[in-house]
Amino acid sequence: MAHFLTLSFKIVFMTKTPSILLIIGGGIAAYKSLLLIRELARRGIKTRAILTKGGAEFITPLSVGGLTGDKCFTDLFDLTDEAEMGHIELSRSADLVVVAPATADLMAKAATGLATDLATTALLATDKPVMMAPAMNVRMWEHPATQRNLKTLQKDGIQIIGPDEGDMACGEFGAGRMAEPEMMADAIATKLGGSAAQVIPFSGGSADLKDKHILVTAGPTHEPLDPVRYIANRSSGKQGYAIASALAQLGAKVTLVSGPTQISDPLGVKVVRVETARQMLSACEAALPADCFVACAAVADYRPEIETDHKIKKERGGLSAIPLAENPDILKTIARLEKGRPPLVVGFAAETDDVLAHAEAKRARKGCDWIVANDVSPGTGTMGGDRNTVVILSDKGEESWDNMLKTEVAGQLAAKIAKSLTS
Ligand code: CTP
Repeated sequence: MAHFLTLSFKIVFMTKTPSILLIIGGGIAAYKSLLLIRELARRGIKTRAILTKGGAEFITPLSVGGLTGDKCFTDLFDLTDEAEMGHIELSRSADLVVVAPATADLMAKAATGLATDLATTALLATDKPVMMAPAMNVRMWEHPATQRNLKTLQKDGIQIIGPDEGDMACGEFGAGRMAEPEMMADAIATKLGGSAAQVIPFSGGSADLKDKHILVTAGPTHEPLDPVRYIANRSSGKQGYAIASALAQLGAKVTLVSGPTQISDPLGVKVVRVETARQMLSACEAALPADCFVACAAVADYRPEIETDHKIKKERGGLSAIPLAENPDILKTIARLEKGRPPLVVGFAAETDDVLAHAEAKRARKGCDWIVANDVSPGTGTMGGDRNTVVILSDKGEESWDNMLKTEVAGQLAAKIAKSLTS
């Protein structure tokens, strides 16, 4: 009896490394799949990969295998592979199948149920959930045939991530860029849920934000000077998006009000995209009430006083003649609301010198409960980079965190928020 109890105890707590089967299609975005493998590894998720014939025109099985630390599968009729692992077994060996880049051709074949190669056969044979990250030229994406296939795939239960809008390798602009690897890795970790949650560095244990609404701002704001120029800053939005994603993973209902970024919507988060500081404030006010407000956006402090619909010409004084008006302070406005102030208000302080003193002064001036101070001076790589070193200031004093990935800062902050809102 004692033996039996020990054995069952071990089985219950034994954890399996979460894993995906990555199908890499033939497109210029195939290189992003290499970055995706690295991002997944950072989150403790193992990748096994199938490289299509088209994919192998862009990247090699050797580079894929080098990053996954496993054999890269390419051929349906490879007897050696079949002896090691049959294609049916391969299609079911992971917790999730991810197609990235999902080309128009792969989407069409999957929507029709064709099984012409190892990738399409695995897609048909799998019993696991499937996620696709489309990537193609904007016209191909907008073509009625692709949109028809997209609807079929969604109806079949396939989760689609992206595509993003932006400049494309083919020189055109529009929707069709593959979602960014970091956001995809977050989405995959979310999808893997229980199994991946253990590798996401939350320190809050079982904190549960179910029934809580959290409002987050992220990214820069763009303040138009004329139809071709705007005032902006270097914020990428990565930290705010990661926080929104981490809070959603803890069960919160999250509204993310975002300035212009290149990042795809995090899964399970309601994203409201705005351009200017004034639009950001209106969107935040419209999203209230909230249990917590996290102001992570790098809001432009000033905007041109006058909006013009013609290009400002050098001969008439150019940009030097433009008077500036101060933008509303979103954090201060919400932190000082007399009615409907979220019970927990968290601000960020981006500083280049005397970081802690400036951050504490900012906390008092704006009236927020916590301020997350970070050093954004050149050389730290914080602005636009993947890592951050932060100190949390509150009326309880200061708490310094080690230098870590922005996704890790997000996980720890989400856990701290959860603890505060639920205790
Ligand atoms: N913030 C805001 N609205 C503004 C300016 C800033 O909501 N118009 C918020 C930011 O999201 C951040 C905090 O205020 O949470 C501090 O932003 P920061 O840029 O560090 O400070 P500023 O208020 O702009 O002050 P300064 O430029 O003097 O450092």
